[in-house]
Order: sequence, then structure tokens, then C-alpha cells
Amino acid sequence: MSSSALTPLMALKEVTRTFGSFTAIDGISFDIHRGEVLGIAGPNGAGKTTTLNLCTGVLPVSSGQILFEGQQVDKLPAHRCCHLGIARTFQIPKIFSSMNTWKNVYTGSRFGRPGIERTKYDAHVSEVIDLVELSESKLMPVSDSDLLTRKRIMLGAALCSRPKILFLDEPLAGLNADEMDTFIDIFRRIHASLDVALVIVEHKIRALELLSDRILILNFGSVLTIDEPSVVMSDPEVIEIYLGKGNLA
Ligand SMILES: Nc1ncnc2c1ncn2[C@@H]1O[C@H](COP(=O)(O)OP(=O)(O)O)[C@@H](O)[C@H]1O
Ligand SMILES: [Mg+2]
Repeated sequence: MSSSALTPLMALKEVTRTFGSFTAIDGISFDIHRGEVLGIAGPNGAGKTTTLNLCTGVLPVSSGQILFEGQQVDKLPAHRCCHLGIARTFQIPKIFSSMNTWKNVYTGSRFGRPGIERTKYDAHVSEVIDLVELSESKLMPVSDSDLLTRKRIMLGAALCSRPKILFLDEPLAGLNADEMDTFIDIFRRIHASLDVALVIVEHKIRALELLSDRILILNFGSVLTIDEPSVVMSDPEVIEIYLGKGNLA
């Protein structure tokens, strides 16, 4: 096996993040494997979004290190992380309301790694638009599109940067049961079609159980457990956290 196959795609080493005197992330260490689906769950305020912000260059770490393919990335700004292949989506869709769907998704490719010929963008954008099921509405203005459509556009734009790892912050928030099923199918298709690791931060742990190769539970800024879904879901501490708050839905 080559050394790159042995190097984790991303590695967090004793990562801590404080806000003033408050420690939001308290020395967490874990690896993210190439191509896996890693679910991250935990109660409100556990530090899920902060972890995602640290991994994508949105926030600097207070101490510790984050390595991407062996390279230290915790001092890099978000656009440099994006160029290396680290992408993310937000809990509240961020899209450009004045542009149509195609243009929004295409914009993601412009933040991608340099060196791709202009003409190759078009084929890639079309491929991504098909994957997120927006072909029929690709020329429509996005200004009055519904939440699921806005989420698909944001996902498409992130994929257009050709990420090796894509972080999703509560992608199912605000969707009804049918919309959730649609979006889960889209994640499955993306994962089957593209060589990308998905890190899905999600409150809805049952959906994570269906999607993930491994689940990490954050609690008070620390890693409670990281393992296969069946192991995590039968962990008494996890059951207590979720059943205790009526969240194991
Ligand atoms: N910019 C910030 N300034 C101060 N405190 C913050 C900031 N961002 C997050 N926190 C705090 O850090 C903790 C973790 O927040 P967050 O990562 O958003 O949790 P989660 O996404 O798991 O709900 C919370 O107590 C939150 O109030
Ligand atoms: Mg959050």
C-alpha cells in the first residue's frame, strides 16, 4: 500500500477551540478516511458547527493541529482549504438570489482548484446539476425557489469545487419527511458517483444511522465515541443523551 493510502484524508490532533474563557472544543482527536461517510451528532451546543468551521478554515484552532492529506491546514483561510479539496455547506442555504440555478452551481467551480480548462467546467457543472436533480430547473431564477431546491443548489455549488471532502451542516434541517428521503437519496447518489468523503453533521441521528459508515458523537466539546453506527446506537451513554432528551427520532 502506498503511503498516501495509509495517510488519513483528514486528521484532527488534540484540537481545542476557546471563545474567551469558554472551551467549545476540548482537545478532540479523530481521523476521517478517504471516501467514507462520517456522521457527526450530539446535543445542541456540543460543538458540531464549531468542529466543522475548524475543519474548513472558517475558524482558526486555539491549539492542536488539523492535517489534510498530511498537510497542516489549520492556519489556512477558507478559500485555500477549498482549493485543496475541502468544501462545505451551511445550515441556512447561502446562494446568489440574482442568478439562475446553473450560474449558482457554476460559481462553485470558480472557487475550485485552478488548472481546469474553462470548457471542462461546463461538462462538470452539468454532471453535478444532474446529480443534485436540478436539470429541469437549471435556467430558472432562484429567487423564489423552495428550501429543498435552495439546499440542492448550495450542494451543487459545493460539489463543483471538486472536493475530496465535503462537510454538511445539518443538511436535513427544515425538511419534511418526503423531502428528507429525497435529499438522502441525493447524498447516496453523490457518494456512489464521486470520489468524495462526506462528513454529515446532523441532529437526526436515525438518518445518520442509515447513511454513515461511522458515527462520531460529540458531547460538551469532547468525542464521546466514534464507531460503526450499530455500535454507537447501542452505547448506553449515547442512548442516555438522546433518549434523555427525547431526541432518538
Ligand atoms: N463565535 C462564538 N462566540 C462565542 N461562543 C460560541 C461561538 N460559536 C459557538 N459558540 C459556543 O460554542 C458552543 C458550541 O457551539 P456550536 O459548535 O454551534 O454547537 P452545535 O453546532 O453542536 O449546536 C456553544 O456553547 C456556543 O454557544
Ligand atoms: Mg450547529
